[in-house]
Amino acid sequence: MKERGQWGSRLAFVLAASGSAVGLGNLWKFPYLAWRFGMSEGGTGAGGFVFVYLLSVLLVGLPVMVAEIVIGRLGRRNPVGSFEVLRPKTKWKYVGVLGVVTGFLIMSYYCVVAGWSIEYVAKSIAWEFGGYDTFITDKEALQHVWEKEGKGESFEAFASKLQAKQDLETILRETKLQIFPERLFQDFISSPAKLVFYLFVLIALTALVVLGGIKKGIERWNKILMPALLLIMLILVARAVTLPKGGQALEALLYPDLSSVGFDTVLWALGQAFFSLSLGMGAMVTYGSYMRREDKITPSALMVSLVDTLIALCASFVIFSSIMSYNIQLKGGGIGNLFTAIPAIFIHMPMGRALCILFYFLVAFAALTSTVSLLEVVASYFIDQRGMDRRKSVILSSTGIFVLGVPCALSFNLLKDVTFFSKTFFDLLDFLCANIALPLGGIFLCIFAGFVLKHEEVKKELFELSSGAVLVWRFLVRFVAPAAIFCVFLGLIMGRISA
Ligand code: PHE
Repeated sequence: MKERGQWGSRLAFVLAASGSAVGLGNLWKFPYLAWRFGMSEGGTGAGGFVFVYLLSVLLVGLPVMVAEIVIGRLGRRNPVGSFEVLRPKTKWKYVGVLGVVTGFLIMSYYCVVAGWSIEYVAKSIAWEFGGYDTFITDKEALQHVWEKEGKGESFEAFASKLQAKQDLETILRETKLQIFPERLFQDFISSPAKLVFYLFVLIALTALVVLGGIKKGIERWNKILMPALLLIMLILVARAVTLPKGGQALEALLYPDLSSVGFDTVLWALGQAFFSLSLGMGAMVTYGSYMRREDKITPSALMVSLVDTLIALCASFVIFSSIMSYNIQLKGGGIGNLFTAIPAIFIHMPMGRALCILFYFLVAFAALTSTVSLLEVVASYFIDQRGMDRRKSVILSSTGIFVLGVPCALSFNLLKDVTFFSKTFFDLLDFLCANIALPLGGIFLCIFAGFVLKHEEVKKELFELSSGAVLVWRFLVRFVAPAAIFCVFLGLIMGRISA
């Protein structure tokens, strides 16, 4: 077998795996879910959701992550190869195949949105958001207010009433500030050429990192991008603390009010934990396969889960405190909010421009370190299983991802009306991957690690744990995690979860 790459240190693994875990899921999906389950329509706080999420990470996410790393380091291959090495001539390798295919699919739609962050770095440097007064007329703003509050009145009657108001200036300004980022976003995503271009840029950047290999590519870039990401997050948090509603936001996020927790909360929190920790498709198997024999798996997995959770909480805090301080409206659950509500917030804020630039860098870095892990899963399959060299494998995988990515990008414009089960191509892929393929892969990974691998095999890898602790982990992986994931499936079938 060819010489395989290896991380240079335990920290390198922790940074790379945290890079995979921290992504759009943390920056948008988690804050949005916390808001939806705790703050919308008279909600009393998101602490209940956060509490359930923490439990899901601890009881399900963490044990599954350990299981994936164990499988990877034992097998020393990509997900397909690892299963093949560990249990040759069995059907287990198909769990790996499911993982590699899922990685390929996630990458092709994830890169579309990740690419938007680059355009938004540019937009915030040029401070396009500042043009709200030039590009939105007073009449348009009035019309917007009328559509929202007019209630059957004619536009003229409503407008003259509004024009007589003392705070007309403020109303118009606030309305323009709301409409303008949305207008910019709609203009942007309705351009097929731009979306395909940024998709290409993001895939190309990812490919460049992965081409460098484990130490000189993935490790090196994660060592730069992850500390930068943490620093940016720190600056944003420092700003959010000093906003008028900073304290209230913190309380809304952390005070565990369990009265608001229902079955739905549990299902969503669990699904989110899975996606956010990059579990169920072999990303951690692959990264684990490059881990040095002497490095301890459990403390590393603990660190990764901690970083991932902290970033999700910080992002929520920044977003909560801004939304509450500036009274910004969220539109539905879509990822679009990341590109409409966020600029609206920064326009209001002193030092908003600089912070906005930092914010979109944060999004870009977080997304890139995640796409790197996705591409590595696919590329390592071709390297290990098909004997390709890294260069050829990366080029082949990225080309395939781009080809599938194009219809995903176009589902925001040209293919907007082409739907399957009333979902666009983009939404359909997201649903199939995040809600079906990842949990399914997760259950199989648990069964394999819990029942198929022998106690001695696992004990050797988890040398840092006492026999008792290994047994606790086994119990979680054998029973708790699969049962919990199975409930997510049931919820899906019963229609309690929709995409
Ligand atoms: N964990 C990443 C996020 O939160 C997404 C991801 C899923 C990355 C699966 C790799 C594998 O955005």
